[in-house]
Amino acid sequence: MSLASTRVPREQFTGQVGFILSAIGSAVGLGNIWRFPGVAFENGGGAFLIPYLVALLTAGIPILLLDYAIGHRFRGAAPTSLRRLGRRFGAWTESLGWFQVAMAFVIALYYTAIIGWALSYFVFSFDLRWGDDPGTFLMSDYLQVAESEGFFGAIVPSVALPLAVIWIVAIVVLALGVQKGVERVNVIAIPVLAATFLVLVVRALLLDGAVDGLAAFLTPDWAALTDASVWLAAYGQIFFSLSIAFGIMITYASYRKRRSNLSGPGFVVAFANSSFELLAGVAVFSTLGFFAFQQGVAVGDLEGLTGIGLSFVTFPAILSEMPGGAFFGVVFFGALTLAGFTSLISILQVTSAAIQEKFHIRPRPAAAIIGTVSAAISFALFSTTTGLYVLDVADHFTNNIGVVGSAIVMSVVTVWLLRRGPELAYHLDAVSTLRLGRVWLVLVGVVVPIVLVYMLGTAVVAIVRDGYGGYSTSFVTTAGWGAIAAMLVGAVVMTLVPWRDAHEIEPWPP
Ligand code: ALA
Repeated sequence: MSLASTRVPREQFTGQVGFILSAIGSAVGLGNIWRFPGVAFENGGGAFLIPYLVALLTAGIPILLLDYAIGHRFRGAAPTSLRRLGRRFGAWTESLGWFQVAMAFVIALYYTAIIGWALSYFVFSFDLRWGDDPGTFLMSDYLQVAESEGFFGAIVPSVALPLAVIWIVAIVVLALGVQKGVERVNVIAIPVLAATFLVLVVRALLLDGAVDGLAAFLTPDWAALTDASVWLAAYGQIFFSLSIAFGIMITYASYRKRRSNLSGPGFVVAFANSSFELLAGVAVFSTLGFFAFQQGVAVGDLEGLTGIGLSFVTFPAILSEMPGGAFFGVVFFGALTLAGFTSLISILQVTSAAIQEKFHIRPRPAAAIIGTVSAAISFALFSTTTGLYVLDVADHFTNNIGVVGSAIVMSVVTVWLLRRGPELAYHLDAVSTLRLGRVWLVLVGVVVPIVLVYMLGTAVVAIVRDGYGGYSTSFVTTAGWGAIAAMLVGAVVMTLVPWRDAHEIEPWPP
């Protein structure tokens, strides 16, 4: 029996709608709801929308389409597709694929933890359990955060329980495979999420003071446009938000049928993601406007307008004051949980698909292996009293160094070293109704590397010069640089492991 006859057909999305909803499900996540509003506010408010749009058009969409082209043409998870792209340098490019898998693996470990918090707060919203001091409730009662950073805190049962729920449901969805698991969840979840967002926005806009909140969010601070860090923040936001350069979109595109429109859906996904992001900003800032109005202060004078503090401290404080706050809280944290979950599935699928192909196994065993190993590490690191510190550093390094570095290497290797850019541009144009031609190639080959090298350089210099987050150097070195080093070593090791079925990596197209 030939090797070929032992192969099972590749899983597929049922069609364009299933793919688009799944890709939107991946893009719209925690980054849209808890990250974007704060980042926009800190970086020039309404003026931030200009660098944001420029970043979307010059790097976000071009790299999204590069991911799509690689995954769709070479029909595999990141290591498989990149190995095929590399031809005789396949071992090198495969290791880039495993580096992307390693980033997805690490991100999943803490992403689940944040979704677990959102799930807890969904439950807490019913009786506004945080009382009148949400800050103390979060840090002391719920997370039980240790006084100083470290790795080996005690397990916190209230965090471990929702984390277990998230892992179990995620493993079940992964085990069901692409059509019955990933696609079905997204086809149901994304319309529900869109409806939930509308409820949030309408309710928020009807609050007293909403207009002041919107003004704070959208009033342009034009001077911000001359500040390089504002531009860096815009590119960083776009990368995480669109789920690009860490294997997700290569993997998802590989499940599309051979003749599938790519460029048009890419724009649909990108603009849908930005719409969710803007709506989240409108809902969050209208609500903040209400809070400022209640307190008789300006929105800009409120504290805790970014990151974890915004969703888990400031927002609960507002919910306690708001008429119908419990309902609003249930809808807000429900949306956060759902948006996070559909992104988590895509992050986990990167690793699952990669090991399915390398070890020639089916989705179920892959989900069981990946799920068990990841959940164990996730519990050990993030359901503990020190979890918040590790999460903060690992997140910063993975996104600002790992993902940006991966995007640079992927575009330079594809366009300049392997010279396969024209072939991929041709592929995109051949299957798509929207033909971008050489414009895409110039963006991916020239604009993206220049902008991103500058971004990476700035991020590295800032960390080397100032450290990160006020943590000790040894902690940043271990949790940050150590995580990057571990991902690189993991990538090399996985590349050296032999393929179980050599047929999987034959040159492509055959
Ligand atoms: N794109 C996902 C998010 O925004 C990862 O959270």
